[in-house]
Amino acid sequence: MKKMIKIAIAGLGTVGSSVINYLEKNNNYLSKNINNQIKIVGICASNIKKSRSFDINKYVWFDDPVDMIKKTSPNIFIELIGTEKGISYDSIKYAIEHNVHVISANKALIANYGNELFPLAEKNNINFLFEASVAGGIPVIKIIKESLLGNNITKISGILNGSTNYILSNMTNNELEYKVAFDNAQNEGYLEANPDFDINGIDSAHKLSILSSLCFKNKLTKFDSIYCEGISKINKIDIKYAKQLNFVIKLLSVAEIIENKLIQYVKPIMIDKNLQLAKVDGVLNGIEITSNELGKIFFQGNGAGGPATASSVISDIVQISKNNIQPSLGMSFDNLKKSDNLSIVDPLKHYNSYYIRLNVKDQKGVLADITSHLKNHNISIETLIQNPKDEEFQDDFIPLVFITHKTYFYNIKNSINKIISLENINNEPVVIQIDKV
Ligand SMILES: NC(=O)c1ccc[n+]([C@@H]2O[C@H](COP(=O)([O-])OP(=O)(O)OC[C@H]3O[C@@H](n4cnc5c(N)ncnc54)[C@H](OP(=O)(O)O)[C@@H]3O)[C@@H](O)[C@H]2O)c1
Repeated sequence: MKKMIKIAIAGLGTVGSSVINYLEKNNNYLSKNINNQIKIVGICASNIKKSRSFDINKYVWFDDPVDMIKKTSPNIFIELIGTEKGISYDSIKYAIEHNVHVISANKALIANYGNELFPLAEKNNINFLFEASVAGGIPVIKIIKESLLGNNITKISGILNGSTNYILSNMTNNELEYKVAFDNAQNEGYLEANPDFDINGIDSAHKLSILSSLCFKNKLTKFDSIYCEGISKINKIDIKYAKQLNFVIKLLSVAEIIENKLIQYVKPIMIDKNLQLAKVDGVLNGIEITSNELGKIFFQGNGAGGPATASSVISDIVQISKNNIQPSLGMSFDNLKKSDNLSIVDPLKHYNSYYIRLNVKDQKGVLADITSHLKNHNISIETLIQNPKDEEFQDDFIPLVFITHKTYFYNIKNSINKIISLENINNEPVVIQIDKV
């Protein structure tokens, strides 16, 4: 006889509604495949009057998720509200403490409170799963946690935020200014009501923090140990120079082990236009994992949106239906490395090539002043580009682009501090890391 799995869903927005739509359409198919019956025993959101893509009268409604868990005693509580702490945290904790399995798509909460909630879930012998929290529909968490658990992963590099990738792709493909591409993304509904987390790289950093723990078998690192830089400084002209140099600019999230030290950052990077990550266009996400055993493997797919994210929530239901309890990060929490003991490389000590664009007054001696500051900070120049005056630049200012040889980031920072004090420089310089193949 088929067992009944009772689920209670809190949050009926983009993702929650899609989970219900999926179950209404495919419950028989799913039940047959997992040999269990799925029943939604409760639904919860903040506004009962809101119009939904399904008929709420078919379900038992609750205004409060904790009340829903108390009254329905589900086997699985699915949290799709999305607050960083508050009600999402309270309801997840309540479920775990009452031995209810938890599924969540809430990367901000997991990145910040995973270290508290994962061991609690382990102690209470329940699953706390979160496949939907990173890269929407791409099942990257399961792959790292299960298929690659025996591999020595050395690097993970990904485009983890669809909205910013849409903006950068739009700027690249249609030669648009940042502001125009941003407005397009907003009009298409690709940006959150408050887009700051996307634009400033915070959303990507939350996801990177989760992936980095999974890959390198450590507890979640302190969030501020991830160097984070957004895309709002990128200008149409930088995209143009990137093209000229056969690069593409992508907001990359990277975690890497070099000489036993962990490097983690989210920033716009110029990468070779022929790389797979360079070809991840629009709202798609892409992830490349490098391990000693496999070399590089690559995944691409829908990183957001209701149906894609619901697919990951459903995959967690499938996992729980198998009745085996799995630690949230793939290994017993006590066996993970303590994040305090990790050697995390100071971002100022990141060692790379850089693109530096300055807007300078076209006057004698300016170039000599700039190069002398670069030289004083041990920066050697690989390429200098001084195109004829661009039509977009008015007055006497022209763009001057330097591609540096590899150097420490502190050298770049210190030299820029000096250069901006020069008289003939207009605006903040734009500095972009270059990853050469
Ligand atoms: N959207 C995506 O593409 C995507 C992708 C990956 C991960 N995620 C994650 O999935 C989660 C849900 O995202 P979403 O896009 O579906 O969000 P959303 O559309 O804003 O939906 C949020 C839901 O939470 C409900 N809610 C808010 N406060 C509540 C409260 N105090 N009690 C009960 N319900 C409450 C809202 O109720 P009302 O409907 O009544 O207002 C709404 O149904 C977030 O953690 C997000 O980061 C989303």
